Amino acid sequence: MKITRVTADLGADITDVDVSLADESIIEAIRAAAIEHSVVMIRDQHQLGLDGLEAFTQRLGTPIDTPYVQPMADRPNVVRVVKEAGERALNFGGGWHTDLSYLAAPPSFTLLYATDVPPYGGDTVWSNQVRAFQTLSAGMQQTLLGMRAVHSAGRPYGTGGVYDITQRGRTMTILPSPDAYAEQEHPVVTAHPVSGLPVLFLNSGYVTRFADWAAHESQPLLTYLYMQSQRESNVCRMRWTNGTLAIWDNRATQHNAIDDYAGFRRELYRTTVAGDAPVAYRG
Ligand code: SIN
Repeated sequence: MKITRVTADLGADITDVDVSLADESIIEAIRAAAIEHSVVMIRDQHQLGLDGLEAFTQRLGTPIDTPYVQPMADRPNVVRVVKEAGERALNFGGGWHTDLSYLAAPPSFTLLYATDVPPYGGDTVWSNQVRAFQTLSAGMQQTLLGMRAVHSAGRPYGTGGVYDITQRGRTMTILPSPDAYAEQEHPVVTAHPVSGLPVLFLNSGYVTRFADWAAHESQPLLTYLYMQSQRESNVCRMRWTNGTLAIWDNRATQHNAIDDYAGFRRELYRTTVAGDAPVAYRG
């Protein structure tokens, strides 16, 4: 198995491995690489198929479902992420977010298996939220350490939310719900459960405000911190190829699917692995 970094701090390509034949030592090496590089793209997994994707997901942990998104009929833990060539609806996963951060225990890893990607465009960009925190001033870091943020799926998935009002013409079935407006607090700076490093655990997809702050008071600081996450030196942009299996460490990243492939089809299959409730970094 060969691991090639894409940038100094984030992203790696993995080649020369067939994950469906991987023994325990290879599985652990892939898990370690996904944590070290935050996102890995395992190339040329043409034989994997959906049975293989589900089997591999189970080797990383307990699969969980994705609320408010219709899974495959016969695979409750698999979401088909698809946009047809003629489809004009807003893409799924566009906009910066950390998967399911509105849950009490968001997923540890997300897997995305590409089966039909456009000849150009349709890349995904990831940010390294450990670096986003590390590159803040000591004063700002200190300020954020005691803070908590409110996460909610309401804006994208609530009744009357973004996906609800843009349903027309979408191939994927999103299930808007009033339940999506439920709120969940998490520390703003979490300790990564494996490395122990501080993570700026904020994302514009689901964070609505800082706990005990008004939304309008929170917005200027949140906007600054999102800019910090999205600085060129804190992100990497990964190119999909058919047969690529991506795994990202959802506890340490945000990501954004770029919607720039009008006229082409894009299809991938997504699973998520259970994680623990985020814990505050204590310094
Ligand atoms: C997602 O956010 O789950 C989808 C990402 C992508 O399609 O690249």
